[in-house]
Amino acid sequence: MKRKVRKDWQEDKSARPVLHLSSGTVTLMGRRDNLAEAIFSLPPGGSFCAQYNPDHVKVETYTLVSGTMEFEHDGCRRKMKIGEAVDASKCLKVITFYALSNAEVVIHMDAPFYEKNFIEMQMLQREMDAVAQVDGYTYHHCDRIRQYAIEVWKKFDRPAANLKLIRWGAYFHDIGKLAIPSDILNKPGRLTQAEWEIMKTHSQRGADIMRNHPVEWLREAAYIVEQHHERYDGQGYPFGLKGEEISLEAAIVSVVDAFDAMTTDRIYKKAMPQEKALEELMKGKGSQFHPAVVDAFVEFLKEKAAR
Ligand SMILES: [Fe+2]
Ligand SMILES: [Fe+2]
Repeated sequence: MKRKVRKDWQEDKSARPVLHLSSGTVTLMGRRDNLAEAIFSLPPGGSFCAQYNPDHVKVETYTLVSGTMEFEHDGCRRKMKIGEAVDASKCLKVITFYALSNAEVVIHMDAPFYEKNFIEMQMLQREMDAVAQVDGYTYHHCDRIRQYAIEVWKKFDRPAANLKLIRWGAYFHDIGKLAIPSDILNKPGRLTQAEWEIMKTHSQRGADIMRNHPVEWLREAAYIVEQHHERYDGQGYPFGLKGEEISLEAAIVSVVDAFDAMTTDRIYKKAMPQEKALEELMKGKGSQFHPAVVDAFVEFLKEKAAR
């Protein structure tokens, strides 16, 4: 079914509720025929993904209205045409949209579900802003972790419903740092043993925040936050879980987080070149890191470089 896209939204966009996500801006335009209409504006390099769930919605479409955008489903990636609508209900797997230039996508979805989701996302936005500021990282760290984690996760045959969990578990992996005193968090020198012990509590404190979160579905992602510093060889924390005892989602966050930390400039250290960081990941394969996750991440980076 072809759904008409409004032509008049440019003029009244400014007065509408907006969500500022790291991957772009979503403006809720209103309701038509019991469908919510929203515009996702992405900068070049911005991306977002979706997974159709018939328990939540009947209609879910994404129409490209401006810019250049690619769409990926089940390993197949191609350019979209202006005016083309992707019907999510026809896609069994996760769909990912990648903006190659500034681009705008109009979303249509059952209004009750989309509006509730939009309000929840506005609540999470405040936390996203807070988390992005702790630990001296830029906002982009959490977003890259989210993007990398999803790309690696798509390489494993996991229940599609877990997309939301990996996405938010990855984004909020360090939310527990909000509970760590800032003099420890921002200490320029080495931490003392006692300070380090406090620092290490961030994964469990983060899991507690998630488990008591007012956004109900987010609670389910607590295990990812809790386990993101576990190591494949059992030498990690907080529980010393080993091998397959660690969830795949947390093992993915562990790898992409380490890679991003190595390849990002911090106050106290310069970024490492990507090749050197990859060598480090290979060294930790099977000890610190889940071997299959390292392989999947390397495969993703190769594909990205070849594009
Ligand atoms: Fe952490
Ligand atoms: Fe991190």
